[in-house]
Amino acid sequence: MILYEHLNTNDKGNLTIGGLDTVDLAREFGTPAYIIDENVVRKNCRIYKNAAIKYFGEDALPLYASKALCFTEMYKIAAEEGLGIDCVSGGELYTAKKAGFPAERIYFHGNNKTDRDICDAMDMGVGTFVVDNCDELYAVSKEAVKRDTVQNILLRITPGIDPHTHKAIVTGSVDSKFGSAIETGQAMDIVKKAIAAKGVNLIGLHCHIGSQIFDIEPFSDAANIMARFIAQIKEECNYEIDVLNLGGGLGVRYTEYDREIDYEKSIKDIATVVTEYCKNNGIKMPKVILEPGRSLVAAAGITLYTVGGVKEIPGFKNYISVDGGMPDNPRYALYQSTYTALIANRATEARDYRATVAGRCCESGDLIGENMEIQKAQRGDILAVLVTGAYNYSMASNYNRIPRPPVILIKDGKARIAVKRETYEDIVRNDVL
Ligand code: LLP
Repeated sequence: MILYEHLNTNDKGNLTIGGLDTVDLAREFGTPAYIIDENVVRKNCRIYKNAAIKYFGEDALPLYASKALCFTEMYKIAAEEGLGIDCVSGGELYTAKKAGFPAERIYFHGNNKTDRDICDAMDMGVGTFVVDNCDELYAVSKEAVKRDTVQNILLRITPGIDPHTHKAIVTGSVDSKFGSAIETGQAMDIVKKAIAAKGVNLIGLHCHIGSQIFDIEPFSDAANIMARFIAQIKEECNYEIDVLNLGGGLGVRYTEYDREIDYEKSIKDIATVVTEYCKNNGIKMPKVILEPGRSLVAAAGITLYTVGGVKEIPGFKNYISVDGGMPDNPRYALYQSTYTALIANRATEARDYRATVAGRCCESGDLIGENMEIQKAQRGDILAVLVTGAYNYSMASNYNRIPRPPVILIKDGKARIAVKRETYEDIVRNDVL
């Protein structure tokens, strides 16, 4: 086992995922390629679903934060596993629609929904909008009134929590671009406006404090602050909040130096805070929604590359160049994220070489990781980067006009293409000649 149960080696010494030889997969589908073990995604969905119901009650619902990994088949998996989804753009909504995802289980997020987004989402019958700010509240209200309908909404609230993660992925602090802060009084203000507004039905509140968070404390603190705010709304406005969406953000183990997280226990701990607060303060237990993205899909995925060359700069560093890089995984460039890399065709050998794994873009920052522990490599080797299921494919670009890799789903010992490899023809498709 390498980091996770679905990653192993076989008697050829090759890395396997879900029991399939990654060197064979690289030969069959080419490189670079994203490989996702569907059984792992489904198992994670069930952990969340079961724990949410067990600890928060029958009404509780996990949503898949689909920004983490978005393509049609993923929405089908989330639907089959009985999850709702968090969509954040017209494109995600459109993909969910193509997948036939039940619209009433869609929660429409985003801090700047355009008029077109609002219309498209209402056309689709999206169940709940998560409204970010007053301008948006009135835009949603206006469109709903025009259609003579009432739209269920949650309000995005910033509880003012610093969750100790990379600053680019903190979202719940007072100065955040998201939501309205309790501390400044703006949260109560938008609650009152939402209660009074026509065409909208305020059913609940939402908060999301950030991503890749290992400690439970910031989640418990946020849950406590939100429960207190619900009590305050009841007192000040005589208004009952039915739904509390606590967002996503639980961390994922990317390397052996990261802690393992017990997701069921984390959910239990957060549930204890909410249930106790409600009990002690005489408020009705809200329907709780969780919104995991990364922790459902990250570990399920790996990326396979072919090594193009090895460059050793005496006294400085060693480079291993691969046939992908920041276009398929921008996370090192953006957040200096750490990953585990290995040579898939020599996976049983010790990772006793140190190298910076570089992509092939015309840019020095195009790296998968620096000074990584890996086996010695040579041109033609298959290099695997582990735990790339979240925020890799979904953040991929065509920088340097590099086509995006395919997404291959593995299930019960079989591999199938879920997203085709882009072609050069795809790259020029929208160019006007
Ligand atoms: N809910 C909301 C409103 C969110 O904004 C996010 C993530 C989630 C749920 C899911 O959070 P998760 O469980 O995946 O941590 N691109 C960055 C991560 C950005 C997260 C954005 N929001 C990365 O690659 O680390």
